[in-house]
Amino acid sequence: MDTPLSVAIDCDPGVDDAVALLLAFRSPQMRVAGVTTVAGNAGLEQVTANATAVLDLAGAPADLPVAAGAAGPIAGGERVPDEPVHGPGALGGAVLPPSSRPVSDDAVGLLTRLARAQPGELVLLALGPLTNVARLVERDPEAAGMLAGIVHMGGAAFVPGNVTPAAEFNTYCDPEAARIVLGSGLPVRLVPLDVTRRAVLHGADSDLLAASDDPVTAAAGTMLRGLTDGHERRHGVRECRVHDATAVVALLEPEGFGWQRHPVDVECTGELTRGALVTDVYRRTGRPATVELALDVDPDAAVSCLLDALEGPR
Ligand code: BDR
Ligand code: CA
Repeated sequence: MDTPLSVAIDCDPGVDDAVALLLAFRSPQMRVAGVTTVAGNAGLEQVTANATAVLDLAGAPADLPVAAGAAGPIAGGERVPDEPVHGPGALGGAVLPPSSRPVSDDAVGLLTRLARAQPGELVLLALGPLTNVARLVERDPEAAGMLAGIVHMGGAAFVPGNVTPAAEFNTYCDPEAARIVLGSGLPVRLVPLDVTRRAVLHGADSDLLAASDDPVTAAAGTMLRGLTDGHERRHGVRECRVHDATAVVALLEPEGFGWQRHPVDVECTGELTRGALVTDVYRRTGRPATVELALDVDPDAAVSCLLDALEGPR
């Protein structure tokens, strides 16, 4: 097998972040070098507790470096949303044993160290608001430039947003940070709602996972059931999207996605459009096209990749 891809994961678990972490640890093609947390689906304390509990569940090495990062947006002000997403505890109602893993409080410091330790090799998988990543870009651009790339789940390029009609959750939570990262010139691969919405997990899939004898598979199924049941209450259909896990699939199997390179920016001031991703398809802005967007996906292949990895060794 080829050398596994080295990744640092910046996340805000959340069910789909949790499933993304499990997927990363279940994928032999990936080696997780460190995990950082950012407020998003819940406050920083909750998402950090969730991340470490999921790392225990995944059987992550005890010495895996973990660091908490930003508790609110880069420009200051109130954190949005103020209620946990994905139910109380933000894990779809699943209750995991609390972890006693050591957690430092300097996510940016950890990302800097990891990037410098493996110049040109580390991919930063950013699954939450981009606050920590923007701080890395601002505090140590040289270290940020040593990343092999950034893969970010975020934005809605040509589909409606999921928080406002214009904005996707991660860009909405910290538009200024997203603008810094997407405008940094660093090689970014964006996995927006355009594709993550199309990779649908059905209620029956979560039921099957939840009934597994394998504790990791079963816990993933329980969390996903929380998501599918919530979706059914709101929309009458028992299914869910696992946005962040789809971004992991995009890193593992990029050939299952249709990529296009465009200049992009993020609206930071619009009354109705704050947090909207602006994609310059016709090159009106003269900005460089440094961001590659996943705009098409083979949804069946993406869901199979996810389920196969979650079902674990057979
Ligand atoms: C993104 O928003 C969060 O709720 C999810 O974890 C994901 O990162 C999807 O819009
Ligand atoms: Ca997330």
